[in-house]
Amino acid sequence: MSLKSINPTQTKAWNKLQQHFESIKEAHMTKWFEHQPERAQQMTIKWEDFFLDYSKNRINAETLSLLKDLAEELQLSDAVSKYFGGEKINKTEGRAVLHTALRAPEDAEVFYEGNNVIPEICEVKHKIKQFSLEVIEGDRKGFTNKAFTDIVNIGIGGSDLGPAMVVDALSYYKNHLNVHFVSNVDGDHVNEVLKNLNPETTLFVIVSKTFTTQETLSNATTIKQWFLQHATQDDIAKQFVAVSTNIENVKAFGIDPQNIFPMWDWVGGRFSLWSAVGLSISLAVGFDHFNALLKGAHKMDIHFKEEKFEQNIPMILAFISIWYNNFFKAESEAVIPYTQYLNQFATYLQQAIMESNGKSIDRAGDKVSYQTGNLIWGEPGTNSQHAFFQLIHQGTKLIPADFIGFGTPLHGNQDHQDKLMSNFFAQTEALLNGKTKAEVKAEGTNESIIPYKIFEGNRPTNTIFIDKLTPESLGKLIAMYEHKIFVQGVVWNVYSYDQFGVELGKQLAGKILDEFTDSYSAHHDASTANLISMYKSMR
Ligand code: F6P
Repeated sequence: MSLKSINPTQTKAWNKLQQHFESIKEAHMTKWFEHQPERAQQMTIKWEDFFLDYSKNRINAETLSLLKDLAEELQLSDAVSKYFGGEKINKTEGRAVLHTALRAPEDAEVFYEGNNVIPEICEVKHKIKQFSLEVIEGDRKGFTNKAFTDIVNIGIGGSDLGPAMVVDALSYYKNHLNVHFVSNVDGDHVNEVLKNLNPETTLFVIVSKTFTTQETLSNATTIKQWFLQHATQDDIAKQFVAVSTNIENVKAFGIDPQNIFPMWDWVGGRFSLWSAVGLSISLAVGFDHFNALLKGAHKMDIHFKEEKFEQNIPMILAFISIWYNNFFKAESEAVIPYTQYLNQFATYLQQAIMESNGKSIDRAGDKVSYQTGNLIWGEPGTNSQHAFFQLIHQGTKLIPADFIGFGTPLHGNQDHQDKLMSNFFAQTEALLNGKTKAEVKAEGTNESIIPYKIFEGNRPTNTIFIDKLTPESLGKLIAMYEHKIFVQGVVWNVYSYDQFGVELGKQLAGKILDEFTDSYSAHHDASTANLISMYKSMR
């Protein structure tokens, strides 16, 4: 059974939220803090090693209660059971959405089309474990019998961003293997990576759910040709492995069937790092850490599935975001992790969030009359403070932001950690309170400069404060955003798990590519025709 189609704007709760919005849209959060000493305590959720403080938002108890009513009217709990229960909620592609099954324990039962999928997941996990161990220990060797030193993950989109972000995020837990990522069809990317690699000691992991993606197949072919300059066709079996659902295409590429790590069509590309797509994670940090990542995600799954609205972290984050997106008309959200390890986190979330909810046709097939998917962007603090924070503090746009911080530094440098965390707390405090004219004046500021130094404040933030960056806490954090995406898609009444929007450009690129070598010219608009002909004269 698919998800129900309910237009959120036709609900009673939406209507009430609209009226409520009119009454509190100008309210300054600082007044609420002044008059309600319990606010900072009430608007928090403590769960395991996570602490969410959402009190610095332009919401009050009534907002929360109306958002909860909205969740009920939209029958969110029914949607949650369908999501976890293997129903084909990805209706436009006729598939279930079961990345949560990938991190369920071995004794769990998750049924898809009448079959429990857990045993086959465990089988693949076992294969990942064995393979990683052999490569890390040096027992599995390359074609000249040398141990591997380097791994190259060849994939794009979900077959690249998830593993690349996690390998980077867990650098502290890494072993001796150097893991590289090749994704762009830009030949300079693959050549730049290959130039420092030794074909005898490099293992290539080709990751493509469909095994039809132009970028990945072009890069894999270029790498195979480079490899064959040093080795024979038979040696490919020792150095190339693949992760895919398309076993036939993988074999046709020349990969030994023993070296195929299967995945399933019920795992969406942007939610696939928990499957064998995470092989390079397991190689980089070892299977035990990979498994801890899965365990963390599973804990978040249980929290999301079972916790009541008020204490449910992904649920609260999703509804607060809807509040800004649909009532305040905020267009984007920032994610600011205060750890350099999460340098690629916003990039990863861009695919997860925008490929999922960047839709404008509702589940009844009609064009929506309200805003859906928000833009997501961000960079680690404190670097981002010296880049775009000016606009968040004093610009004309409302940009709700998630601040993610960790209590304990991994290398134990307390001096740096204190400086980092003082910035972490200072920024959300500044965004909340701002700085008044009187305060600026009291600093002896020249009268003509005063307006430029005023900060209005009242800029919303969530603080997600976690004990320590570990594989497990990272798993929880990623799963938290996955469930936020799900909730928002349900509320916006869109299908979050297809991605037809990426197809048109691909099709046109295919046609244009032929025109470079053929004398034939397709019909284009005048601007595109001009640009293509300029390029043809250069090549
Ligand atoms: O960008 C579109 C997309 O289909 C993504 O959803 C997916 O993650 C990516 O391409 C790569 O696809 P594949 O793993 O099939 O090569």
